Amino acid sequence: MKISPFKIERYFARYEFNVDYVLCGSDCESVTIAQLLSLEPDAADRFHQLWLGYTESQGGHALRQEICKIYRNITTEKVLVHTGAEEAIFLFMHAMLASGDHVIVHWPCYQSLMEVARSIGCDVTLWKADEEKGWALDPDDLQQMIKPHTRVIVVNTPHNPTGYLMHPDAFQKISRIASDNGILLFSDEVYRESEYRIEDRLPAACDFGAHTVSLGVMSKTYGLPGLRIGWIATQNEDVHKRMAVLKDYTTICNSAPSEFLAELALRHREALVERTQQIIRANLNVLDGFFDRHADRFAWQRPEAGTIGFPKFLGGDVEDFCDALVKAAGVLLLPGIVYDDPGNHFRIGFGRKNMPGAVGRLEGFLQNA
Ligand SMILES: Cc1ncc(COP(=O)(O)O)c(C=O)c1O
Repeated sequence: MKISPFKIERYFARYEFNVDYVLCGSDCESVTIAQLLSLEPDAADRFHQLWLGYTESQGGHALRQEICKIYRNITTEKVLVHTGAEEAIFLFMHAMLASGDHVIVHWPCYQSLMEVARSIGCDVTLWKADEEKGWALDPDDLQQMIKPHTRVIVVNTPHNPTGYLMHPDAFQKISRIASDNGILLFSDEVYRESEYRIEDRLPAACDFGAHTVSLGVMSKTYGLPGLRIGWIATQNEDVHKRMAVLKDYTTICNSAPSEFLAELALRHREALVERTQQIIRANLNVLDGFFDRHADRFAWQRPEAGTIGFPKFLGGDVEDFCDALVKAAGVLLLPGIVYDDPGNHFRIGFGRKNMPGAVGRLEGFLQNA
């Protein structure tokens, strides 16, 4: 298999673990194993007694029961647990697509959502979000993009990198168009439950019917990327079966300690979500002030969900700016070039507790620039 390098990951590989501040992370502040175990009185004992044998390939039953609580119409046999959302994307594309198939992908995007399909030899149409309309997708455009051989539509909301949250009517409409045309809707919902107003939370796509697949993960809203636990939830038995067959050739089953900790965390998911929301609220206040003070250099569209946004840099070339910033001030931003973005944007992250310090460092850099 030939696939292009994952630009975001390659950029992170250069800097992520040797800078003072990662001001572009998409995950929320994490916790320690000790903090997780303290959520239940006997959890530490149970963790120490955990048997390190192979685990159930589809994910432990108790873990899948917890995952089901996130959805309305999903039962345990409709969930397939993976090593991160990334494995699930890879396996979904390989299970359901063949060379020559047509795929429509919400763009800009987390690269694997388009790149895996491309590497299979698919014909990929990028469905461009409209910056002028708050990075919205217009479902009326979708119908015209559909071809006789369109197999999959990929959407991601809350969105990486813009923080765009789709309107429920648009989401329903996209689902209906997919269903009417016999196309699978792959809905990347890894930032779900990070909406700033709970009433804005969309239904999960998998609850709409068997033409949909929802992608979830422990990494983002729950702040636990180190567990590497993600999943798909789908009422489509064919998708589930085909992905399970492929999983036997990648990871077979998930890490037993990670499954234990993910299950524990999901039992306390509301507390983890509240913690995340508090961090985001405080950090967004800091960012609002920062972007107000520097309106001449940045155009900021405040996100509606999640931990990342995609401001435009108005003061020159964004790649040079990010490069100079990381070298001089040890603050990492992600230039839009890693999304193939021609619009001089960069990704900023506000899910980490040290974000105010990072913004202070950035402001100092701007004063000296
Ligand atoms: C939209 C989106 N989907 C999937 C993933 C992959 O998640 P994970 O790294 O937990 O596998 C990410 C990670 O950044 C993401 O932003």
